[in-house]
Amino acid sequence: MANETFIGWMTSIQQYMEQALEKLLPAAGCAPQRLHEAMRYATLEGGKRVRPLLVFAAGELVGAERDNLARIGAALEMVHAYSLVHDDMPCMDNDVLRRGKPTCHIAYDDATALLVGDALQTRAFELLSQPMPGIAPASQLEMVRTLAHAAGHAGMAGGQAIDLASVGLPLTLPELEFMHMLKTGALIRASVLAGSMAGRELSGAEKEALDAFAKRIGLAFQVVDDILDCEADTATLGKTAGKDAANDKPTYVSLMGLAEAKRMAKDLHDQAFAALQGFGPQTDRLKQLADYIVARSF
Ligand code: IPE
Ligand code: IPE
Ligand code: MG
Ligand code: MG
Ligand code: MG
Repeated sequence: MANETFIGWMTSIQQYMEQALEKLLPAAGCAPQRLHEAMRYATLEGGKRVRPLLVFAAGELVGAERDNLARIGAALEMVHAYSLVHDDMPCMDNDVLRRGKPTCHIAYDDATALLVGDALQTRAFELLSQPMPGIAPASQLEMVRTLAHAAGHAGMAGGQAIDLASVGLPLTLPELEFMHMLKTGALIRASVLAGSMAGRELSGAEKEALDAFAKRIGLAFQVVDDILDCEADTATLGKTAGKDAANDKPTYVSLMGLAEAKRMAKDLHDQAFAALQGFGPQTDRLKQLADYIVARSF
């Protein structure tokens, strides 16, 4: 496993996650069929699965069980997929393309898209709170709390509120960082932390170091998303390019320009690496994911 190339490892986790999600989502043939079909539409076949990959990489550090990690990864991915469905709705970013397909509210309708988000989120918490062999109930409770905090008013939902309230405004750098840490960073961070709660207990210092890593790559992820929105094309991204400028959103690119935004992503990457210094080779996958997050082209 340790010698497996990063791409090989990533592909195998992505495939494993696809099967897990396939199984853990409600069957399309069961009533209410339209809702179930739309939940599957919004979650399956697409997406880089970065959050589950982080769950698995952090799980590797603590020797966690693969089946448990798949369940935790599925919970993270369902909350993420829900956030995308709502993010694309006309009342938010008003996007028509996601993961190379029409967005959920276009393929279905607004009411269905709202319900898809609601149902994916609650399904995620249902999965996370089902007994997981070998994980102490207290650790599982901590995972539930971590995800709830990351998805709610002090995390993703709060960040989205700031994003919507900031259209057309020249945010300061600290304000922009706060928004990005919440709307995207929180779920990325929660993915790393949740994966690390699925195995051996980390020391206080190890937890702190891992958290510092998770925060840095969480922010880096959205900085790169801002860069790609400006630099990449729609076909590559699978979502409409240039939307941030069109919607007058404050981003790292609008605030500091492309070159500075790229430098910022690299600095965050280096800080994330530095945070893992005290660990041995068990953090190699996390480091490879940090590389991928800043070097990705979509
Ligand atoms: C896009 O997330 C939205 C953000 C939080 C920046 P991803 O880039 O992880 O989207 P998918 O899951 O690969 O489609
Ligand atoms: C979205 O940020 C963050 C979420 C919580 C979904 P963006 O609005 O920049 O994400 P994309 O670019 O549409 O994927
Ligand atoms: Mg948005
Ligand atoms: Mg958007
Ligand atoms: Mg974006």
